Amino acid sequence: MKLLVASIILMSGISFGQNALVIPPTIETSTINLTLQEGVTQFYPGVNTSTLGANGALLGPTLIMSTGDNMNITVDNQLLDTTTIHWHGMHVSPEDDGGPHSIILPGTTWNPQFTVMDKAGLNWYHPHLHEKTGEHVSKGIAGLVIVRDTEEASMGIPITYGVDEFPIIMQTKGFNASGQILFHTNLDTSVMVNGTVDAFVDFPSQVVRLRVLNAASQRVMEIGFSDNRTFSIIGTDGGIFMAPVNKTRYRIAPGQRVDILLDLTTSLGQNFQLMNFASELPNAVYGSAQPGMAPFMTSSLPGYTSNPLNGANYAMLDINVIAQTASPITTIPATLASFTVLTEASATVTRDLTFSSAGGGMGNLSGPFLIDGSTFDMSVINHTVQLDDIEIWTLTNQTPIAHPFHIHDVQFFILDINGSTPPAELQGFNDVVLVPGGMGNVRFIAQFSDHANNTIPYMYHCHMLPHEDEGMMGQFIVTSPTAEIVVNELNGIQIYPNPSVDQVNIQFDDYQGEIQITNVAGKIIHTSKATINSTLTINLDSGVYFLIANDGTTQQFIIQ
Ligand code: C2O
Ligand code: CU
Ligand code: CU
Repeated sequence: MKLLVASIILMSGISFGQNALVIPPTIETSTINLTLQEGVTQFYPGVNTSTLGANGALLGPTLIMSTGDNMNITVDNQLLDTTTIHWHGMHVSPEDDGGPHSIILPGTTWNPQFTVMDKAGLNWYHPHLHEKTGEHVSKGIAGLVIVRDTEEASMGIPITYGVDEFPIIMQTKGFNASGQILFHTNLDTSVMVNGTVDAFVDFPSQVVRLRVLNAASQRVMEIGFSDNRTFSIIGTDGGIFMAPVNKTRYRIAPGQRVDILLDLTTSLGQNFQLMNFASELPNAVYGSAQPGMAPFMTSSLPGYTSNPLNGANYAMLDINVIAQTASPITTIPATLASFTVLTEASATVTRDLTFSSAGGGMGNLSGPFLIDGSTFDMSVINHTVQLDDIEIWTLTNQTPIAHPFHIHDVQFFILDINGSTPPAELQGFNDVVLVPGGMGNVRFIAQFSDHANNTIPYMYHCHMLPHEDEGMMGQFIVTSPTAEIVVNELNGIQIYPNPSVDQVNIQFDDYQGEIQITNVAGKIIHTSKATINSTLTINLDSGVYFLIANDGTTQQFIIQ
């Protein structure tokens, strides 16, 4: 297989670093148009691969936002498939969050509007349609969201995108014999950064900042540099640290981000590589030589042991150090952000979530995996959180493999991992945490502020996309005792009661024209023409539905 051979050559370093690293373009305005589209990408010369992208054939532009900006985003779905776009890591209301409830049918648009409430950090956007996230992300849709704030601007760290600050979207992909992307696969033998395989980049001889995202479907990476140079970690996920943490390795799970400063002031002319030192990953982590933990493991992952990336060390990006830019930053500051860490004593609610393998026992390595004994059911709200509460969640992993657990809405602080205080580089803001396999456990603390909605939930799930798509996901609503019951009202259409039992009323106060009702998979199950001041009463099986008006806007409702 030609493509497999290409990645083996890459690992041996013979021809590594042939292609200039693509730097995604930026959008820095608060009005944003994202067009989801099909395209063709040549990852390998002469091989045309069908891909998906936002405003292009692959990946999407980097959105640069500032705290306080009022965003107005139009997502135009020109794919042949229903999808959603989620702002991973961002603190937005559930109706703007882009989870599986906010479907965008082919040929329609979605228009989230929100104020950026986040601190400076690195977030990202990607599709989140239930059972299709892995396919849509693997085929290419993902992009970065850099949030800036005034505190970051005063730190004296690099903030000039593409000059001293570089996006590093790390992915591995699998291809079939005709060069088309596989998804839900263990055969992800190709390594790419920003969609570029075999990539090189020139960094100036000064302090440079790497905004790193692990956007791989399943693979945990142990990143470092080929000459084992020390780097300064200055933040994770949605926030910058109080002070840099100097390391030679960082373990980054799918969905996680890390903010790295490299001091290249004395490295002019040097060549080195960004590496994945996967041989150093412990067992029971996807990407290591042995993804399950004995003695729990009773099954293996198809194709896993033949994938040359597992348990091996390999280069992901070739780096050349060139001349300084004008007015370079040449020192790494000793102090960075200030913030207050939530204390355990401030929590008023605790929750326990347990991960297990379907089919009984702890040994099943290939899933499906369950949270609290069940797979995702879109018509069930698993947890209800009171607005402003500070909660401690305990995650217990009874499966033989580590799972990167992600929660929407909040950034959390990790209290402990397997009972121990986390290392300094895991003491900042996080929205993903790797929960160790074989009865591993993690406790985190978070406050659920600002956004209450009695009907539309947020998600929590494993960020290994095959696990998520197979249902390793749950949902929670944030409610406020003082909030009025939300009546869905859009375009002069009210849907009540919501949720309802068996039967729902759709009242057209100020609307006339076509309407459609679809199920969560985007399948149309009802169409009719509405007239002003009429009411449609309809019987439906239990589930989650979307009412689509003739301008493409959707309202969600639930039949219990
Ligand atoms: Cu990055 Cu719920 O996802
Ligand atoms: Cu998310
Ligand atoms: Cu998982």
